[in-house]
Amino acid sequence: MGIVANKVTLEQQLAGRDFLTLADYNKEEIGYLLELAAHVKQQKQSGNIEQPLKGKTLGMIFEKSSTRTRVSFEAGIYQLGGTGLFLKSDDIQIGRGELISDTAKVLSGYLDGIMIRTYSQKDVEALAKHASIPVINGLTDTYHPCQVLADMQTIQEVKGGLKGIKVAYIGDGNNMAHSLMLGGATMGMNISIAAPEGYQPDEAITEKAMSLAGVEGCKVEVTDNPEQAVQQADVIYTDVWASMGQESEQTLREKKFADYQVNKELCSLAKKDAVIMHCLPAHRGEEVTADIIDGEQSVIFQQAENRLHAQKALMTALMG
Ligand code: CP
Ligand code: NVA
Repeated sequence: MGIVANKVTLEQQLAGRDFLTLADYNKEEIGYLLELAAHVKQQKQSGNIEQPLKGKTLGMIFEKSSTRTRVSFEAGIYQLGGTGLFLKSDDIQIGRGELISDTAKVLSGYLDGIMIRTYSQKDVEALAKHASIPVINGLTDTYHPCQVLADMQTIQEVKGGLKGIKVAYIGDGNNMAHSLMLGGATMGMNISIAAPEGYQPDEAITEKAMSLAGVEGCKVEVTDNPEQAVQQADVIYTDVWASMGQESEQTLREKKFADYQVNKELCSLAKKDAVIMHCLPAHRGEEVTADIIDGEQSVIFQQAENRLHAQKALMTALMG
């Protein structure tokens, strides 16, 4: 009701904005994006598609690999009436050292929005600072906000809401953990991260998430004990132990994270109707066993599909 009443204000508030981290978005703004995502999904399913981005172009810069992000953004902008340009960083001058600030200014003259997947969050911030069009973070080493937007849409669908829902995230305190903590706390969810010493989430981000949780009356906690984290969990979430760029640490990480596998035994300690989530790509037999990720309680493909709907909502709001 509050969100509907403020629809025009929220539309104005979001138009032209960057989407670099969920920490920049308040509860009403995220709530609005999720409502729009549900609407966009329903429209696609009924075959009645609006094209609010007719004639608009999204540039998509990739410095890391991708299946879901690339395809869902490219299909999404096309479905909205626009065009997506895949820009592999090696193929554009950024790969040969052209300044991000120059690239941002040049691309702003051609495009209506930029999605970027890269290593450093600072590079995404620099791009946004110098671009006059919206910049969307398609994953950095620090954050993956588009994924968490789709995750929250999925949790709303399967659990009927977000407030008071407990998510236990088991594994590396990485980009996924950071965005889940920030987005979850903003929406009143309880987020429990279980990660081994040395691999826990960034302290400043954890503090920020805890202070957001304080405002919403929910809880963000970090522990090294997965059994404790999954107590009363509605959602069990995991991600790879070695993220993109950490391939050389694979063997070391397999040892460090050996006690952090999401398997039948661990899941039996959560609520009976807990769902299993994973941003994908997954490594069966490492962070999650095949019986769990392919089992009845897994919602991973619904979650992956929602990348399309959530990002169509995001592009509509920012670039429309
Ligand atoms: N979850 C996710 O972002 O997948 P991709 O790396 O395939 O884009
Ligand atoms: N943490 C993973 C997420 C992939 C979508 C990575 O950064 O590789």
